[in-house]
Amino acid sequence: MKNVLTIDGPSGVGKGTVARIIAQQQDWHLLDSGAIYRAFALAVDSRGVDISDESALAEIAKNLDLEFKTKEGSELVSVYLDGQDVSKVLRTEQTGEMASKIASIGVVRAALLKRQQAFAKAPGLVADGRDMGTVVFANAPFKVFLTASAQERANRRLKQLQNQGSEGIISQILADVVARDERDSSRKHSPLKPAEDALIIDTTELSIDEVITQVVKLIKA
Ligand code: DC
Repeated sequence: MKNVLTIDGPSGVGKGTVARIIAQQQDWHLLDSGAIYRAFALAVDSRGVDISDESALAEIAKNLDLEFKTKEGSELVSVYLDGQDVSKVLRTEQTGEMASKIASIGVVRAALLKRQQAFAKAPGLVADGRDMGTVVFANAPFKVFLTASAQERANRRLKQLQNQGSEGIISQILADVVARDERDSSRKHSPLKPAEDALIIDTTELSIDEVITQVVKLIKA
C-alpha cells in the first residue's frame, strides 16, 4: 500500500482528531487502533475472563465481533461489539485504563495484528495508535509522532469532558495521563515510541489546524 499515514503518540495528544480530519480530507480509510484495544478490553471484562488466562484472551481476540459504522450525516464513527453500540462506554477513562493494561500482553497484540493490518485498503489509510509506525505498518511511507506536555494533554482532556457536559479534576486527570504514558511506554511488547523515520511534532503550542498543515505537507511532499 502506497498511501498509509501512521499517527502515533501518547494519550490525549489529539491523534484521533488529526487522523479523522486527514482521512476525511484525503478520502482515505481510518483505523482507530485504540478503539480495537478498548473494545477487546470490554469483551474480556463482560465475559469475566481472568487476564492471566492467555489462551482465553487469544480466543476472544480471534472471535471479536467488532464493527465500525458511520451514521448517515454524522462524522462520528459508532463502534458495535457483539451487535451492541458501545461507543459511549468505549471512550471512558476506565475503559482506557483497562485497554492499556490488556494491551501490554504479547498474545493479545499478536492476535489483533492482522485485524488492524486489514484496514490498509485503496485509496489509502490513516492509522492512529501507539505502534502504527513501529510495528503494525512499519513499512508505511508517511509516519508522524505527536507529542505534547502531560499538563497540556490533561488540560485538553478536561476541556473535552466539559464540552460533553461532564466534569473532571485536573490533578486526577493529570495523574491518569502520566500513569497511562508510563505503562504504554515501558511495556515489553510494542511500547509507545516514535518510529525512526517518523516526523515528530510537538503540539503543545499548536492548534489542530497547524498540526494538520504539517501532516498534509508531509504526505504531499
Ligand atoms: O488511543 P486510546 O487512548 O484509545 O488507546 C487506549 C489504550 O489502548 C492505550 O492506553 C494503549 C492501548 N493501545 C495500544 O497499546 N496500541 C495501540 N496501537 C493503540 C492503543
